[in-house]
Amino acid sequence: MDKLIIEGGVPLHGEVVVSGAKNAALPILCAALLAETPLTLTGVPELRDVSSTLTLLDTMGVKVVKEDDRVILDASDVASFEATYEMVKTMRASILVLGPLLARFGTARVSLPGGCAIGSRPVDLHIKGLQAMGAAMHITHGYIQASTLHLPNRRLQGAKYYMDLVTVTGTENLMMAAALAQGTTVLENAAKEPEVVDLAECLNKMGAKISGAGTDTITIEGVERLTGAEHHIVCDRIEAGTYMVAAAMTGGEVTLKNARADLLEAVIEKLREAGAQVSNDADSITVKSNGQLKAINIRTAPHPAFPTDMQAQFMAMNTVADGVSTVVETIFENRFMHVQELQRMGANIEIQGNTALVKGVPALEGASVMATDLRASAGLVLAGLVADGETVIDRIYHLDRGYERLEEKLNRLGAKVRRSN
Ligand code: EPZ
Repeated sequence: MDKLIIEGGVPLHGEVVVSGAKNAALPILCAALLAETPLTLTGVPELRDVSSTLTLLDTMGVKVVKEDDRVILDASDVASFEATYEMVKTMRASILVLGPLLARFGTARVSLPGGCAIGSRPVDLHIKGLQAMGAAMHITHGYIQASTLHLPNRRLQGAKYYMDLVTVTGTENLMMAAALAQGTTVLENAAKEPEVVDLAECLNKMGAKISGAGTDTITIEGVERLTGAEHHIVCDRIEAGTYMVAAAMTGGEVTLKNARADLLEAVIEKLREAGAQVSNDADSITVKSNGQLKAINIRTAPHPAFPTDMQAQFMAMNTVADGVSTVVETIFENRFMHVQELQRMGANIEIQGNTALVKGVPALEGASVMATDLRASAGLVLAGLVADGETVIDRIYHLDRGYERLEEKLNRLGAKVRRSN
């Protein structure tokens, strides 16, 4: 199993290019199932989750051609409408084929994702939303069996649906399903994440009629068919945020290219509050710091509030900041898996329910730690970058799911990171 070995204590300097957003690429790849002609995507990141999704689509009969960051997907001859447990258990985002399969083919058999390290992660709102559009949804033997064969013209029907909770992939699944429904669908209490907006922009290029993406009410006027298009994936705001925290913690100066400050307002605000200097132009962000940061309170919430995907990274920053801080996780019930590992490095953290109380310490100590989930692993990498001595992070396949060429990008900034198996 691959490990990352990090020699701490080096301030980061230089430029890093941010990749395309994992959480935009995954739904947009699945949206290819909706199109009768090829969809061409650029800016697709080289990630484990992306290759998993391409493998899933390939097993369904989608013809996939990949050249570097360009992917062409041809779903003109889909032969299978199923996502198996083996597939879904390795990547819960496979649930995103459900809406497109149902909308275009009227049938889908998708494994329930099951839980993961950060929480139970139910998909009840995906199912209820599709039922609101008339789909017959049965859960049997751990699978969602969905069908529209009983509906007029076998088509989903436009509906008004209020989502009890803000769900990113729930919003995305229902938006994709509604794109080919008969009539108009209104999704209320919709997720406003930039990745939802990027998906809507891609769908509209394919012929969909979607308005309101980025607000809490999205209106989708169903159309007869969607065709291929060309779309460039939006930059990854969470990857960018992770490098921004790395610059702040190590006391360096880093410029991120292909980064958009307008997608990271809450994160930038918190970095400034901690004492880092953040400046930007249209497609780059620069973070400068002396490494002496103030502890800052964090509370995660749906976009545009502070993103849960940046919680572990900021907790790592707080462990060596000056003062006491609270980190409140309101989205997932178990997203503190990084805490025990940070404590092994000398962090002073106490968990009370969904709140972590962090007391800054002068320095962390390098140690052997274990990655448990994608963003927890990112937090451990950041801790390793500032710890005294060597940190060894095990099970880094978690990192490879969401960070493209991580050690290469960090080493180009002066870090001392190497991979070993
Ligand atoms: C997306 O997950 C992201 N993944 C996650 O990023 C991110 O942490 C999360 O949104 C929140 O921003 C992708 O986009 C592929 P949710 P998602 O549905 O859609 C509950 C990463 O590190 N809920 O917005 O699965 C759920 O349990 C990953 O890149 C229901 O109860 O998250 C959670 O408590 C991790 N029923 C809350 O809503 C449902 O039907 C928000 O979950 C759906 C969700």
